[in-house]
Amino acid sequence: MNVIIKELSNDKNLIKNVQEFLFYQIEKEFGYGYVPEWHQDIIDLENYYINPERNNFFVAFNSKTNEIIATIGIRAYDKDFTEFKNIYSSKSTSSIWRLFVDEKYRRCGLASKMFGVAETFANQQDYDFIYLHTHRTLNGALEFWTKMGFVITIDAGDELETVHMDKKIMGIEITSPSSTFNYALEL
Ligand SMILES: CC(C)(COP(=O)(O)OP(=O)(O)OC[C@H]1O[C@@H](n2cnc3c(N)ncnc32)[C@H](O)[C@@H]1OP(=O)(O)O)[C@@H](O)C(=O)NCCC(=O)NCCS
Repeated sequence: MNVIIKELSNDKNLIKNVQEFLFYQIEKEFGYGYVPEWHQDIIDLENYYINPERNNFFVAFNSKTNEIIATIGIRAYDKDFTEFKNIYSSKSTSSIWRLFVDEKYRRCGLASKMFGVAETFANQQDYDFIYLHTHRTLNGALEFWTKMGFVITIDAGDELETVHMDKKIMGIEITSPSSTFNYALEL
């Protein structure tokens, strides 16, 4: 099976399909539906991810069936958590959201690929950090992010078992006469 990963564009039908995919995954993984204070970015994908230059949203498709099989969003840090007040800013820090891989396609490296695409974008946009939060209750999520090079910054110990994590990135450009490589390195 081939997978095609595309940047989400201002295509009304595709946006609707992505929203359906996301709410289906949220219901399945978290056991609840639309919550206005948590899901504004999904309702307004255009303004959270598509329109701002330093934000993006990637969608993976099964190239045979054209069904959506995975998503990931990346955007400039826009939260006001007091714990990170003097650490992150929208200029220095990107944040990862909405990584979901359809159950049928898990453990094949697809989430790793999706994160790789998002990390390359973060590197190109000159962010210094990637921030995210996840939950210990999600099967495999903490293991996945740890494998991707993230470290726990705060273990909130709340009801949802929220864990805040980040990864420092540093862009290095190596230019040789024949080719150009871009790397994201963890220091
Ligand atoms: C977490 C999730 C994104 C992983 O997707 P995936 O495509 O299966 O991940 P990958 O195949 O790229 O896994 C890479 C590595 O992460 C770790 N990992 C992934 N899923 C894991 C699991 N269920 N248990 C333990 N480790 C896991 C493993 O080290 C894995 O490498 P391996 O398969 O060689 O052992 C997917 O299970 C998912 O969508 N879960 C529901 C939503 C969610 O938790 N999203 C992320 C949290 S915000």
